[in-house]
Amino acid sequence: MNTFAAKAASALCTLGLSVVLATSVYAAVDRDAMIERIKPHGQVCVQGDDTCGTASAAAPAAAAGRSAADIYNRSCAACHASGILGSPKFGDGEMTTRLNEKGMDTLLAHAIEGFNAMPPRGTCADCSDDEIKDTVQYMLDND
Ligand code: HEC
Repeated sequence: MNTFAAKAASALCTLGLSVVLATSVYAAVDRDAMIERIKPHGQVCVQGDDTCGTASAAAPAAAAGRSAADIYNRSCAACHASGILGSPKFGDGEMTTRLNEKGMDTLLAHAIEGFNAMPPRGTCADCSDDEIKDTVQYMLDND
C-alpha cells in the first residue's frame, strides 16, 4: 500500500511537472506569437536614421519625385474630394470661383498659412511653398 501510494504520488508529480513545463513552454511560444500579432503595423522612421531599414533612404527621393496629384491625393483629397467642412469641392468649380474672387496670391497664402478650417499646408507639413502652389494649380486645372 505504501509502495503504491509512493508510486502514485511520484506518477502524479511527474505528470504535474510535465503539465507545468508544457504549459510554460506553450505560454512562451504563445506570448511571442501574441507580441507579433499586436505589434504596430507601421513604424515611424525618422529621415536619416539608418537603423530602420531602407525606407528612410528612399524617402527623400520619393519626396522629391512626388507630383501635385500625389500631394493632392495624400494631403488634400480627404477634405476637398467631398467638400467636407465647407472646403471647395474638387472638380465642381468652386475653387475657380474663389480664384476669380480672391486671386491666386490669397488662395496660395490661405493654403500655406491656413484659413478657418483649412489647415496650414493642408497638413502636408513637409510640402514646400512651390509644391503647395503646384497642388492648388492642379486643383484649379481639374476644377
Ligand atoms: C482638414 C480638411 C482640409 C484639408 C486636408 C485640406 N483643406 Fe483646403 N480647405 C479646407 C476648408 C474647410 C476650406 C475652406 C475654408 C473657408 O473658406 O473657410 C479650404 C480651402 C482651401 C483653399 C481656398 C482658400 C481660400 O482662400 O478660399 C485652397 C487653395 C485649399 N484649401 C488648398 C488645399 C490644399 C492644396 C490642400 C492639400 C495640400 C488642402 N487644401 C487640404 C479644408 C481642408
